[in-house]
Amino acid sequence: MDKLLVHGPCKLNGTVKISRAKNAYLPILAAVLLSDKKIHLKNIPELQDIKTMIKLLQNLGVTVTKNGNITTFDASTLNSHEATYDLVKTMRASIFVLGPLLARLKKAKVSLPGGCAIGTRPIDIHLTNLEKMGCVIHLTGGYVEASVPKMKAAHLLLSFPSVGATENLMMAAVFAEGTTTIDNAALEPEIDDLAHFINAMGGNVKGIGTKKIEVTGVKELKEATYEAIGDRIEAATYLMAALATGSDVRIEEVDPAHLEFVTELLKKMGAKIETGANYIKVEKSVLKGCHVDTAPFPGFPTDAQAQLIALCTQVKGSSVISENIFENRFMHVPELIRLGAAITLKGKSAFIEGEAKLSSAPIMCTDLRASAALIIAALCATGTTEIQRVYHLDRGYENLVDKLKTLGANVERIK
Ligand code: EPZ
Repeated sequence: MDKLLVHGPCKLNGTVKISRAKNAYLPILAAVLLSDKKIHLKNIPELQDIKTMIKLLQNLGVTVTKNGNITTFDASTLNSHEATYDLVKTMRASIFVLGPLLARLKKAKVSLPGGCAIGTRPIDIHLTNLEKMGCVIHLTGGYVEASVPKMKAAHLLLSFPSVGATENLMMAAVFAEGTTTIDNAALEPEIDDLAHFINAMGGNVKGIGTKKIEVTGVKELKEATYEAIGDRIEAATYLMAALATGSDVRIEEVDPAHLEFVTELLKKMGAKIETGANYIKVEKSVLKGCHVDTAPFPGFPTDAQAQLIALCTQVKGSSVISENIFENRFMHVPELIRLGAAITLKGKSAFIEGEAKLSSAPIMCTDLRASAALIIAALCATGTTEIQRVYHLDRGYENLVDKLKTLGANVERIK
């Protein structure tokens, strides 16, 4: 298994280009199943999760061709409604094919996503609302077996603004007769991106960016070309790495509005941050501690919580960070303590002492964002830190080692 060696402490410097967003392209790829016309997607990032989703589409019969930075999908050759356990077990987001398959084929058999390192992550909100649209759902042998004689438009009120449920239901409603309203919808920018993609294919989604999304059924879709938004969580990761190492870095090809809560918080902590249409520039800054609760967008993203904890080990004073979205998302803390961080966990909160003198030790990745926190800490630690199980990082960070090297970090990947 590959591992990373990070020689620290090091300063970063220069410009990093952000890839297109994993959490935008995963539902967009699933939405390709809705159309029997050609769909052209630009700059799809080379990530393990994206490769898994594309493999799932191919297993369902979608024809995929690549030409330079454009990948073309032809789902007119769709010939299966089954997403098997083998693929779904490696990536929960496979559940995103449920809505589009039901909308297009009126049936779907999708393996139930098992548990995950960060939490139990049930899909009850997806299923109960699909039933409100007329779907008949059985859970048998670890699979969701669903069918629908005719998808009915409905008024759906989500019990929690779930990202995945909002996206699945939006896709399920694309051909339903009449207008489906999704109330208490999630507001994450990736959801707006999916809605814009559906409209680019000729769908009819309104209320984009609001808690009340309206999807009016259409008869058919058309050929489309689309490029997803920049990855705000990748950008947040480089932003916090720059601040933790006291560096000047420019982060390009991301919309700062998608990170506003994060940059405003960092500014309150003392960070010197300048933003423009599609860049964020940060300068060496002296930071103080913070009190933060993770929350659905536009609040502080749970996917940047681990990276913020790593940063807070280097600021002046103490911090308290509480995780409210997932019940088991502090797996990075024991690993940070191995590097010399002073962190205590109580219930949903982490109490972090600043100005920790981190020093190298062998550490292990446990999930995608926890791994990003370990990278940030290793860049601050004295000595060579060996980071194991880096396959977790491959799921969501494109060309991480090259991008860090471009910024002057001394890192290497050992096969
Ligand atoms: C999406 O997951 C992201 N994944 C996650 O990013 C992100 O952490 C999460 O949204 C929250 O922002 C993708 O977009 C592929 P949710 P999702 O449904 O859709 C509970 C990363 O690091 N819930 O909003 O699974 C659930 O258990 C990943 O890139 C139910 O109880 O998130 C959780 O506690 C990790 N029942 C909370 O809601 C449901 O039916 C939020 O889940 C659905 C969700």
